Amino acid sequence: MRRSKKRIGILTGGGDCPGLNAGIRAIAKTAILDYDMEVIGIKDGFLGLIENRFLPVSYEDVSGILNLGGTFLGASNKANPFRHPDFKGRLRDVSDMAVENYQAMELDGLICIGGDGTLNIAYKLFKKGVRLVGVPKTIDNDLRQTDATIGFDSALITATQAIDKLHTTAQSHHRVMVIEVMGRYAGWLALYSGLAGGGDIILLPEIPYDIKKVCEVVLKRNQSGKRFSIVVASEGSRPKGGKMVVKKIVKDSTDPLRLGGIGNKLANEIEKITGLEARVTVLGHLQRGGEPSPFDRMLATRFGVDACELIAKGDFGKMVVLKAGQIKKVDLKKAVGDIKRVGLSDPVIKVARSVGTSFGI
Ligand code: F6P
Repeated sequence: MRRSKKRIGILTGGGDCPGLNAGIRAIAKTAILDYDMEVIGIKDGFLGLIENRFLPVSYEDVSGILNLGGTFLGASNKANPFRHPDFKGRLRDVSDMAVENYQAMELDGLICIGGDGTLNIAYKLFKKGVRLVGVPKTIDNDLRQTDATIGFDSALITATQAIDKLHTTAQSHHRVMVIEVMGRYAGWLALYSGLAGGGDIILLPEIPYDIKKVCEVVLKRNQSGKRFSIVVASEGSRPKGGKMVVKKIVKDSTDPLRLGGIGNKLANEIEKITGLEARVTVLGHLQRGGEPSPFDRMLATRFGVDACELIAKGDFGKMVVLKAGQIKKVDLKKAVGDIKRVGLSDPVIKVARSVGTSFGI
């Protein structure tokens, strides 16, 4: 017998970030209060869809979670129904099984909160008949079509505060401080935190650096009496003609490369070339933790409410986006496939140059 109430599913895929709980809360509250729907939370992202693990979500379950980091549904940055390891570790396409589980859950729509990897998978599932809507999140802010993603602002605050703290100790000890921030193949987090934190040199994946130029800036500052320097390096930054530093390969992940190590490389080279003492701080997963900023809470709430409305209207295959302060929708197809990188003519690059920031070129 057909249920009287409609049922909506929510999953959080990929790496976590602050603001996911705020998004889940907004979707669930809107579904319950505005549309009298039932809410199902799928556990651990697409892994829950593959393994048929889910839980009912009540109004009480999402009460009091607005300010909590992480995701109470769990996430997986490996799970992919199109490439799922069998018991021998061989990657198999189990997407039909995921679709069957989705159907067995009797969902009228599914909201996938995720970054590029998750939304790519979501788009492929949509083409297989899964009625879904995407919500953009990632601390990397590298999703096309949207001005902001859930999590970026909170990570930006963490990284900026870290740069502020490194400034004082750099000054006391007359050192070069290299701070490695996340962002994968896009330099948004390094660019924005570097500018907000007053970094002297900002290194981005999009602008391969020349180590000699980096050292020239450091030495020039030293000679002019500024006996410390702050270098903000995106984990994906690389020297001209060189490669990104890969820390680890996670074979069964949607993006197998785990970047990391450029900070150490830079500090060693700077110390060797300039003769000045250099230290490195790798911010790592601190950037993904902690409470969401007010901006991220707002963004997640606005995205969540609008995504729920799209499901209620049956407007599937879309992603909610922020455009010039307004929440809009775009076809999921347009949002995935390629990422949003920092353009060389980006106004923020110009602003950084105007205040004397070097990009190591
Ligand atoms: O995409 C988000 C992100 O935090 C990147 O900035 C980083 O490169 C990557 O995920 C780290 O992934 P993991 O949590 O698997 O180490």
